[in-house]
Amino acid sequence: MARRNTPSLVSPSGSRQVTPLPFLFLTLLFFACSGPASEARCVFPAIFNFGDSNSDTGGFWAAFPAQTGPFGMTYFKRPSGRASDGRLIIDFLAQALGLPFLSPYLQSIGSDFRHGANFATLASTVRLPNTSLFVTGISPFSLGIQLNQMKDLRTRVVALKGTDHLPPADVFGQALYTFDIGQNDFTSELGSLGIGAVKQYLPQVASQIAWTIKEIHDIGGRTFMVFNLAPVGCYPAFLTELPHNPSDLDSYGCMISYSNAVVDYNNLLNDTLQHMRDMLPDATIIYVDTHSVKLELFRHPKTHGLVYGTKACCGHGGGAYNFDPQVYCGNSKVINGTKVTATACGDPQNYVSWDGIHATEAANKLVTAAVLGGSIFHPPFPLSKLCDLQPIG
Ligand SMILES: *[C@@H]1O[C@H](CO)[C@@H](O)[C@H](O)[C@H]1NC(C)=O
Ligand SMILES: *[C@@H]1O[C@H](CO)[C@@H](O)[C@H](O)[C@H]1NC(C)=O
Ligand SMILES: *[C@@H]1O[C@H](CO)[C@@H](O)[C@H](O)[C@H]1NC(C)=O
Repeated sequence: MARRNTPSLVSPSGSRQVTPLPFLFLTLLFFACSGPASEARCVFPAIFNFGDSNSDTGGFWAAFPAQTGPFGMTYFKRPSGRASDGRLIIDFLAQALGLPFLSPYLQSIGSDFRHGANFATLASTVRLPNTSLFVTGISPFSLGIQLNQMKDLRTRVVALKGTDHLPPADVFGQALYTFDIGQNDFTSELGSLGIGAVKQYLPQVASQIAWTIKEIHDIGGRTFMVFNLAPVGCYPAFLTELPHNPSDLDSYGCMISYSNAVVDYNNLLNDTLQHMRDMLPDATIIYVDTHSVKLELFRHPKTHGLVYGTKACCGHGGGAYNFDPQVYCGNSKVINGTKVTATACGDPQNYVSWDGIHATEAANKLVTAAVLGGSIFHPPFPLSKLCDLQPIG
């Protein structure tokens, strides 16, 4: 299986293999002479990302401006459109590949798409949402819409070649395509329909991700990374909101039934991607098991330099989870005549969970380190050989 994918590894760098030697020599000389950390070598000149809040670098809040502090407090020192106190996995990944942070496709001011674009928005699903964002809290920018945006961007890049802030037209075959989506398909109807009904449509979620890869392959994409579903059974928000008995918790305080359903979905996703590999032998499709890293952080935060697993940094109510469904991180509400505000802890670097649903920058950094280490790729993928990985400071 890994073998089947090996030939395509040369595809992003294929053009470089036929580079005339004198040019190659000059290029090497240039790299040798350039200052430290300036010219990172990486076969991927760009990243195109599809996803939800876990990888949204500002798309949702560009479309519907309203984000407030304490989001962004750790790194950006202002709300940056990210659902975290700082950087996301996609930010650290871009940094490691020597690329700038990805501009949101929906951001009309200050965007630069020369090294990719981010189609992810907070609350996005894989499946088409039925009803209004303002009724269900589900983003209208579901995966099918994000794919259409990608196709539109490509059409415009090809038509407007050479325009400022757009990549060259040959970027699409060389880029890395990343997917971090499906969490809202899993969680948004757990409360109303229950786990049994949700399990019924999960195969559709996995197969739609795989077919999106097929569509991008049809327009030239060759290298794909799919991040699997996080251990939502350990999230402070769901531990607070979803009905369960103490006996439903495992020894780490995570909900067993939801944890098992996540593992089942991830296995299904892994199998579905295998089928797509069989269909697209010249594509490299990598299943990235970030779930195992996140689960380890929730279970043993102290082993990894953190303190709190299933307790949110930013929230209200204190207690084991510090999550109040009535007052989400950064919001205020009058409850029984008293104004309460969900504020951030002073030490987000000690937490896995930022706001009960999303990870802190500290956790995202640890997960990215595992991604860059290569141990959670299936099949194996030599990222560190294809790119001079830059330190993620
Ligand atoms: C939309 O509604 C249909 C019919 O009620 C249902 O089968 C489907 O699962 C819903 N989709 C989503 C994303 O909620
Ligand atoms: C994914 O499936 C392959 C078999 O196709 C298996 O070898 C691998 O261990 C699976 N990965 C994970 C993380 O479950
Ligand atoms: C608000 O007051 C009602 C009635 O006194 C009480 O039942 C409820 O628990 C209170 N809610 C909160 C969030 O304190």
